[in-house]
Order: sequence, then structure tokens, then C-alpha cells
Amino acid sequence: MALKQTEQIFNERLAECYDELKWLYMELYHDEHAFAYFVQMLKQFYEERPASLRKWDEKRTAQKDWYKGNQMLGMVMYVNAFGGTINGVRKHLDYVKSCGVNYLHLMPLLESPQGRSDGGYAVSNFRKVDPSLGSMEDLAALAKECHRNEISICLDFVMNHTSEDHEWAVKARQGDIDCQNRYFFYDDWTIPNQFEETVPQVFPTTAPGNFTYNEETGKVVMTTFYPYQWDLNYANPTVFNDMTANMLYLCNQGVDIIRLDAVPYIWKELGTNCRNLPQVHNLVRMMHMAADIVCPGTLLLGEVVMEPSKVVPYFGTVDKPECQMLYNVTTMASTWHTLASRSVKLLRHQLGTVFALPKDYTFLNYLRCHDDIGWGLDYDYLETDGLSQIPHKKYLNDYLTGKYPGSDSRGELYNDDPRLGDARLCGTTASLCGIEAAVFENDDGKLEWAIRLDTMLHAFLFTQSGVPVLYSGDEIGQLNDYSYHEDPLKREDSRYLHRGDFDWKLAELRKDPDTRQGKLFQAIQNLIAIRKSHDVFNGLADTWLVETNHDRVLGIGRYYHGEKLIALFNFSEHAETVSLGESEQYLDLVRKEPVSLDTVTIEAWDFCWMFLKYPEEGKPEPEKKPAKRKRKLT
Ligand code: GLC
Repeated sequence: MALKQTEQIFNERLAECYDELKWLYMELYHDEHAFAYFVQMLKQFYEERPASLRKWDEKRTAQKDWYKGNQMLGMVMYVNAFGGTINGVRKHLDYVKSCGVNYLHLMPLLESPQGRSDGGYAVSNFRKVDPSLGSMEDLAALAKECHRNEISICLDFVMNHTSEDHEWAVKARQGDIDCQNRYFFYDDWTIPNQFEETVPQVFPTTAPGNFTYNEETGKVVMTTFYPYQWDLNYANPTVFNDMTANMLYLCNQGVDIIRLDAVPYIWKELGTNCRNLPQVHNLVRMMHMAADIVCPGTLLLGEVVMEPSKVVPYFGTVDKPECQMLYNVTTMASTWHTLASRSVKLLRHQLGTVFALPKDYTFLNYLRCHDDIGWGLDYDYLETDGLSQIPHKKYLNDYLTGKYPGSDSRGELYNDDPRLGDARLCGTTASLCGIEAAVFENDDGKLEWAIRLDTMLHAFLFTQSGVPVLYSGDEIGQLNDYSYHEDPLKREDSRYLHRGDFDWKLAELRKDPDTRQGKLFQAIQNLIAIRKSHDVFNGLADTWLVETNHDRVLGIGRYYHGEKLIALFNFSEHAETVSLGESEQYLDLVRKEPVSLDTVTIEAWDFCWMFLKYPEEGKPEPEKKPAKRKRKLT
């Protein structure tokens, strides 16, 4: 492309958002010089963007809703656990493709000190790949190959903090005041103690407190997460400029989706809880505009592990979007509550909230991820049902760790805080569903149930609008990995329970329908194929709750362009019957047989996907009960 034309495109994109960008920037920083630097930096990254990625941008912007349909399927994995190195992942791309995956989230892979890395979330160099995993060239080559295969790459952008070994932190430790000003340094504990009065703790047992005394400087530094993860001070424009540059650098390697790690935490203010402050939204909005100017094919995925009313504002507004995608964390946690409690009431309530949101909002749906399951449930709602927070959390944890009589779940607690009666939970989907217990006890009957439950949860995942993301290994029912207990670098952090190496030997068994791996893999693959071949699963479909008049059976309806789906999920260990009183004949998409919706019996832990296609002409509008519009959300 001729230089002039290139410059023109940049100028046009900049002009489109210049006023808003400058307004937000000046509101935060009041610094013309820093703003001019920021704009120049955008131009530099725009000019450096490889031609192939500019073409990719064109393709993506021409099809703005590319991630909203029913074709998207994600998988999240650790590079070392799956392929050893980035090149190893590349070699196994055929496997990823064979699972139907076209969105690959690679867990943190940038340089991070061993033993002080929080699984790669303490980055010491944002422009260097951890040498044990490969190089930046390997990452760019993998991205290129993924793009050739129509697979998008997602990478974490750990923006709240750096490792204490990052160049800025090293200089700060040596007494460089400019670098100290990139973090929160205090001469004594007076201000830190004031912060502690209002700021909750993220890791109350594994890393208590939000500050750490630094011997080298004799000062106290803010460390919301682990003591070796130093919080960046985004009130300093240099931090924002340089971190945005780091993000754009990764985008220019071919990363399509930037996961904004721990984004609610990036602005701190004394006297507040330092979460979700209004300035955070200004920063995210500016990062969105930066990406629109430099690499408009890129999406922002916000990691906001909070209740829905806190999550939704990160979508921004139609005119001023922030993140294109957000984690559907409350639905995930409510699903595990439902499994343990056998009552679908809370999940119905939660889905009602989600269904009432604009369809344009895209959620990333998942059953398990690399983190623990935090019990951020809607306790106000649960209290109306007679459940109070502390005993209920205890029940959930007892059930899902298999302590509760009759439970076959095998999880472990995470950050158990007996003072507050609080603990979160770890474990793979398969182990939580009972597959581990069944294998251990050599009980075929139990195994069949557990596989059915695991399949049903995946069906529920695929029934939701948005992008479903599989946790690598879940597709073959990988079990907990207890070896972390023996590893001194990992044993304090039970999240490693579900971060085991992908077992390629067991994965081979997926082709054999007589093995447990084969049963689960093929059942999940079948669901994926059905989802991709029926538009009713499109993210822009109408969705509503189907009244089942049954506490253990969840009903969801979907409608899109003449296709209707009624999905029922039985969260109980007994067969249950519901009457929907509909006379039309539906098609059971899994069993491929006609089914009447008058009365439906669903086996224990099973589900039904019932489908109806209206004739093209004169199609009746489906009868539907829209979810109650609870306008609790902002
Ligand atoms: C995010 C990550 C988590 C990590 C934390 C600190 O919440 O998901 O794994 O510990 O950020 O970076």
C-alpha cells in the first residue's frame, strides 16, 4: 500500500474518535504532551502492523459480527501442558481443528520468573516469550498458521501489575523515582493501612494483605495479588502509554483477542474498594479506541469476575463500546450451585437476567477455566429461598469436594478462609461430575451417569448465546492432577489441581466409543456439530425461560429466523417428567427422532434439545414467555 494511502487510513481512523479520545485522556491526565506521545505511539504501531494482519483487519471489519454466530467455539490451554512449546501447539493444531475449535486462548506465555509467576500472571517482559515455551517469532508464526486455518488467537494482557523482576520494578528497587512512580510506593505503612480498611483481599490465605514491605527501598509497595506482583499506577500517563504500547505490540504479532486480565482492579483510590472505579471504564474505552485505530480486527475480552451488575458496564454503550466480550462468570458459578443443590431456581433467575440484556452483548461461556470457582452467587435471591451465604457456601464446598454423603464430586478447596467461612473450589469438570470417583471405584453404572452429567453440562453450555469455551482436556474428561501436591512451587495453590498436562495417550482413546474418553468426546463432538449446523444457536437469537413447573428441570427457549429450540435439562439423579402442553411435533436433535412436548420424561442428569422449523411462508410467531425484565442492571 502506498505510504500516502496508509497515512490517510490512519488519519481517518484517528479523526473518527479523536475528540472523545482526547477528552477522556485529558480528563484523566491533564497532560497535552503525554497525549501527543500517545497519538504518535499509535501511529508507530499502525505503521509497523504487518500487511497480512492489515488484510485480516479488513476481513474482520467487513464482517463486524464475525464472533456472534453459532460457528465460534473456543478452547483454552496452557502451552506447556498441551504441546510443550508454542511450536508443539502448532504441531497439534490438527487436534484443535478436529475438535471444531476456531478460537484458541493460550494461557500466559510471556517471560515470568519461575516460582514467582502465578502461572504466568507476573510478567517480567511484555515483549518476550518465556524462553522455555519459545520465542515471539514462534508466536507470530503460530498466529499466522491459525489464521490460515480460520482460528483466532486469544492472549492474556496482564495489565494490573508487573512482576517484581520487570525492568521498571528492578529500577524502582534500585531507587529510580520515575520507576517507583509507575507503582504505588509509600514511605511507611500509614497510607497502606488506610487502604486496608476498605480494600478486600484477593488471596486471603495464600497472599494476605494488599501491600508488601520492600527491603531494598525500605518502602511499602502495593501488591493486590501476590507480593511479587506489583500493582501499576494508571494515574501516571506514562504507565498507560507504555502498557497500551505493549498491548498493541502483541496485537501486531497476530493476537486477535486481548484478554484484559483483572481489569476491574486497575484504578486505585483511597477510601474505596479499588474495584470498578469509573476511571477503569475510561481506560478501557481508550484502549478500545487504540485498537480500533491500529488493529480494528482485534477484540477486547474483559476478565470481570464479579456479579452481573458489575460485569455488564464493561460492554460500554452502543456509541462508546468498551469490551466486545465478557466472561459469563455468574452463570458458570450458578451452574455448579445447581448441580450441588438440585434446584434450578437460581439458575433460572440468573438466566432471566442475562436474557433481558441486549442480544448484542456477547458473553464468553464456560464450565471451567484455569481459576477456581468463586461462589459469587446472588445471595439476596437465595435468601428469599431460605439459604444464607456462609452455610450455603459450606454446603457447596462439602458437596463438590465429596465430603457430603452420597456426593461423587472430587474437588479441593481454594483459599479457605475460616475467619470468614469462605472458600472457593478447584477441580476438573470430569472430576466434579463424578467420573473420577466412578473410575476409582470401578463402577460402570456410576460412570455412565457421570458421563451423562458431564455431557448435559456441555449441552447447557452450548445452549447459551455467546462463545462457548472448552477447557482443554475437558473434551476427553481429564481428571484432577494431584501431582501438584509434590511440587514445592505449586503445592500452595490448589488451582494446579485442574491444570494438569494434557494426556495424549488417553486422548487417543477418544476414537474408541467403548472407552470413557470416546463416549464423552463423541457426545460433545455431536453437540458441537448440531450447534454449528442449526442457526437457532446463533448468538443473536431470542432467548427465554420455559416454564417447566419443576424445581429440578431447567427449560430454555431459543428462536432465530424460523427455527425454534426448546431445551430441557434435568439436574437430578432421578428421571423427571414435565408437561409443557405443546401440541406440535418437535425433532429431538440428539436422538434424531420426533418428540411430543405435551409431556416429556428426561432421564437422570440428561437433557433434550427439541427443534422445530417453521415453514418459510406464513410462519406463525412462536409462543414465548419472555424473561421477566429485571432492570437491576445498569
Ligand atoms: C486473573 C487470573 C488469575 C491470576 C490473577 C492475577 O484473575 O485469571 O489466574 O491469579 O488474574 O493476575
